[in-house]
Amino acid sequence: MFDIQQIREDFPILKRTVNGKPLVYFDNAATSQKPQVVIDALVDYYSNYNANIHRGVHTLSQEATNAYEEARKKIQVHFNAAKLYEIIFTSGTTHGINLVATGYSSLLKKGDEFIVSALEHHSNIVPWQMLCERTGATLKVIPINEHGELIFSEYEKLLSNKTKLVFVNHISNTLGTINPIKEIIDKAHAVGANVLIDGAQACPHLKPDIQQLDVDFYVGSAHKMCGPTGIGFLYGKEELLNLLPPYQGGGEMIKEVTFEKTTYADLPHKFEAGTPNIADAIAFGVAIDYLNELGFENIASYENELLQYATKKLLNIDGLKIYGTSKNKTSVISFNIENIHPYDIGAIIDKLGVAVRTGHHCTQPIMDFYKIPGTVRASFAFYNTKEEIDIFVEALKKAKIMLS
Ligand code: ALA
Repeated sequence: MFDIQQIREDFPILKRTVNGKPLVYFDNAATSQKPQVVIDALVDYYSNYNANIHRGVHTLSQEATNAYEEARKKIQVHFNAAKLYEIIFTSGTTHGINLVATGYSSLLKKGDEFIVSALEHHSNIVPWQMLCERTGATLKVIPINEHGELIFSEYEKLLSNKTKLVFVNHISNTLGTINPIKEIIDKAHAVGANVLIDGAQACPHLKPDIQQLDVDFYVGSAHKMCGPTGIGFLYGKEELLNLLPPYQGGGEMIKEVTFEKTTYADLPHKFEAGTPNIADAIAFGVAIDYLNELGFENIASYENELLQYATKKLLNIDGLKIYGTSKNKTSVISFNIENIHPYDIGAIIDKLGVAVRTGHHCTQPIMDFYKIPGTVRASFAFYNTKEEIDIFVEALKKAKIMLS
């Protein structure tokens, strides 16, 4: 399918050792590693055309402006958004959600309701709770079943003409469940509600088609997609973005400022106050090109192979329980080993060079559902290998012996 050894050569960090062992990096759902082309794009910007954008007639400023706007274009094309100015650069998924949640305060009326899912990351819960506290709107929750899937019939019961907005993730960061977002969006639209999809965990694995989904808002982060930290995007339908007030005031987001009144710039600049994260936006564009060259079908199919291989091997370990067993899931495995704290497992396998995340993964409601304090989470990317999974499984067996 693709040459995995060749791909690994693109990622300098994969050559390093940790605690004297070759690095096995299985914390990709927290952040992905970066290929050399992305690192080079950052160095190139700062070495050759660093300048502020949209403000200078000089050559460097124009080169930087062009590269920044080309990156926006790459995001538009990649996600198939209808209009370039429907793509807003943010600092990441959390920023995008807060921008929309804050803006909604001015659009709410008494009795309005929101629907969230029990699978959400705290970043898609807390901003809405803060909004509810400010406005008196209420939050309803779509429950999940033992497999970690949304119970669709319960979702349908929650929908009504009071529903203002539904916000769910495309893929759960903790369980890997892929949610049926097209069906969720269609049902919400049938009652006149809008939908925001948190795509942070989906964008590294698949290629959402914004127009086909007919989604109202879609947010994501570059750093999960082999791009830099500190940059992400918010897609919003033009008419909705026009309804939302600006999130932050400052330079770049205005048309005219007097002490009597300020008028705001058109989209997308209305939402991009201050000097943006120019270098990282440009490198985000490079990361998108890199992933597209590999091909999302290839990525998904290879990662699914890793998922199946690892699941089978892990289930051979006595006392190991996997949380999140949907048939429709991506390459994330959350698990516990009987009577052992996840943190202890994480600490011991780190000594053997294996990086995983442990804890509640910013999803305490999921932990409450399963009545556990946390899990060990292994999340695979297209640059991981079956040999690394073997090392991981052997490390777990050693940890189990030491901790039992
Ligand atoms: N949201 C990231 C994770 O799941 C940080 O690890």
